[in-house]
Amino acid sequence: MERPNRVVLQERDAAGTLTSTAVSHIGFHVPDVAAAASFYGRVLGLVVQGELENGGLRLGWGTGHHVVDLIEGEKSLAYYGFEVRDTDGIEGIRKRLLAAGHDVSELDPSFIDYALGTADGISVPDPDGNIVHFHGPVERQGENAADTGRRPIKFQHTTVGTVDVAAMAAFFVDVVGFRISDQLEDGKFAWLRSDRDHHTLAVVEIGKAGDIDHYSYDLAEWEDFKAWCDRLTDLGVDVSWGPGRHGPGNNLFVFFDDPAGNHIELSAEMEKFHDDRVTYVPRRWKPIPTSVNLWGGQLATWRKTSEGN
Ligand SMILES: [Fe+2]
Repeated sequence: MERPNRVVLQERDAAGTLTSTAVSHIGFHVPDVAAAASFYGRVLGLVVQGELENGGLRLGWGTGHHVVDLIEGEKSLAYYGFEVRDTDGIEGIRKRLLAAGHDVSELDPSFIDYALGTADGISVPDPDGNIVHFHGPVERQGENAADTGRRPIKFQHTTVGTVDVAAMAAFFVDVVGFRISDQLEDGKFAWLRSDRDHHTLAVVEIGKAGDIDHYSYDLAEWEDFKAWCDRLTDLGVDVSWGPGRHGPGNNLFVFFDDPAGNHIELSAEMEKFHDDRVTYVPRRWKPIPTSVNLWGGQLATWRKTSEGN
């Protein structure tokens, strides 16, 4: 059997600059905005916070910042955003992106309506042409009250699908300032961190650009998975993968789909990193099913690994 290429992703230049940056929001093109908004309200407790200029809807929790934007169109990723709490973080990212020749523009002010202190934000295409937002700290009152079985704790990570994992990893690590936590040794999946969580962003080869593989919300603990799976069943939403535990990140997971077909993960027990106290060498996991699902290796219908099924 032909062995897949072995790839070692490297950290260079700005790697590790960001230590207090997390996902902020995500925008999707969906064929039916009303159906998707109804689903996100019913299932995840996200409420409409406003209408977008393009006729889309902005959803969030409580009085805090928004989480999901829904824009009418063929299913695809419209943009994905990060909240940068590092000191001078936005300015640093802007300088590094410009120095590396990236096309940086100011972020639409509506994304920083809830800014704390200086309202600053930038927008830049990633190597696949997806639009990435970076903005400073925003108010999040009302977002952090977990209600077991009814709403998750927070939006936790985005996993972007790509045709070129190495290029995406180099952009986010060497220029923006993330670090590599883990990768599959065939180079087709990389998990990147920008705060204490094992990953706030992951990139995976899916044979095309312009869409997510999945995105994820945090639950508090294992007990919540039972409540959520029962609740999803009551709501007529199928659990499509899991429960299981990932190797990279060691987090528990279940998956289900929104009406547009976006894969949504609920996650808990994500591995924590304390880079100021230990030197960590990124692990390179075998590209086999039990790496992404330690509990027996059952894969999601859309998931493949390069060695075995
Ligand atoms: Fe995930």
